[in-house]
Amino acid sequence: MKYEVDIIKELNSNEIVVKVQGLNVTFGKAHIIHDVSFEVRKGEIIGLFGISGAGKTTIIRVLTCQIKSKNWTGDVLVTHLNPAKEKNHQKILSRIGYVPQLELLNLYYELSPLVNVETFASNYGMKKEKAKEVAEELFSILDIPEDTWKNALKKLSGGEKKRVSMAIGLIHNPEVLFLDEPTTGVDANKRYDILNYLKILNRKLGTTMFIITHDLEAALICDKTAILREGELLAFDSPHNLIQTLPSNGLLVRLTIQDLTQEKIDIIKAFEYCERISRVGNINIEVFLYDFGKNINPFIDYLFEKGIKIISMSRDSANFRRYFQIRIQEEEEKEREQEIKIGETKEEEEHLKNTENEKSEKSGGI
Ligand SMILES: Nc1ncnc2c1ncn2[C@@H]1O[C@H](COP(=O)(O)OP(=O)(O)OP(=O)(O)O)[C@@H](O)[C@H]1O
Ligand SMILES: [Mg+2]
Repeated sequence: MKYEVDIIKELNSNEIVVKVQGLNVTFGKAHIIHDVSFEVRKGEIIGLFGISGAGKTTIIRVLTCQIKSKNWTGDVLVTHLNPAKEKNHQKILSRIGYVPQLELLNLYYELSPLVNVETFASNYGMKKEKAKEVAEELFSILDIPEDTWKNALKKLSGGEKKRVSMAIGLIHNPEVLFLDEPTTGVDANKRYDILNYLKILNRKLGTTMFIITHDLEAALICDKTAILREGELLAFDSPHNLIQTLPSNGLLVRLTIQDLTQEKIDIIKAFEYCERISRVGNINIEVFLYDFGKNINPFIDYLFEKGIKIISMSRDSANFRRYFQIRIQEEEEKEREQEIKIGETKEEEEHLKNTENEKSEKSGGI
């Protein structure tokens, strides 16, 4: 059970530790998750992104045996076991760790960090001595100051409490650790610290990790990112591969434009090889061009011709944040187009019906 912290375990082996195939979740009439499929390999860090209500927690609840099998269908394996079967639950729970969004849910504030961890370890049948040894190793990796280990937890800072909560999730050396919003409610600097610690733990212990988050910066430590929207999985791949699917492999030109208006944006959009524009500030835009290398100079000439004044210009690659925004925007655009089409079809049907009614009225009148 002891953590071999000096040995970097073989990461990203081919072993599939979580498999989800055709997952559908329904609560009564509400269809929450629609046909979601993905596979996770040993040692990977997976980021589960999506706006509120997308279904992130619901998927994790299926994987962590918290949703009754009558509410879901699909082939799901967690550490080679099917959570649809209740008899597998105990075994699955002994092989996974869970760090809830609110530390309150798994921490006793009056007890010290060490006693907190020991208490949880006893649930897994770990002896106190062993639990203490592992807890001390985890606290050291997580930089929880040694002079706080025996103080009441309520005296620790917010970030330190989060790290104790992570130590609890890891105490039984789980194969997979699920973290629900590990960086929410933590200030910007500490967010980076927490992500950094997760990466260190992943590298040192080889733990596969699922991170549910709204924090798009978290993609920096993820091997794969999943984007959910309204219960559908829009994307599942490495951030790099996803960015590569953007026009010109994600290469973009960032422009600061004098007195930027919607009218100017429309003129820029009208450039023949302009694939997409994102407004990223008051006077800043990012433009994706078809065949960037070939079309960047004609594009600049075009702006000049149209009298659009450029204050500054730089070339860059899209980051995951931009990919995420574009992917969500695309879905919204598709939905709007479909709604318009449905509206038009309804109008046409209505028109047809009226014309037929008029015809039959006329023929009836003859
Ligand atoms: N037990 C339930 N019964 C009915 N609807 C539910 C149930 N659990 C979740 N939902 C609904 O499923 C949808 C997805 O919820 P979920 O908690 O998975 O979203 P999320 O992506 O985790 O959102 P957030 O970022 O706000 O945590 C929501 O519309 C929610 O209201
Ligand atoms: Mg949630």
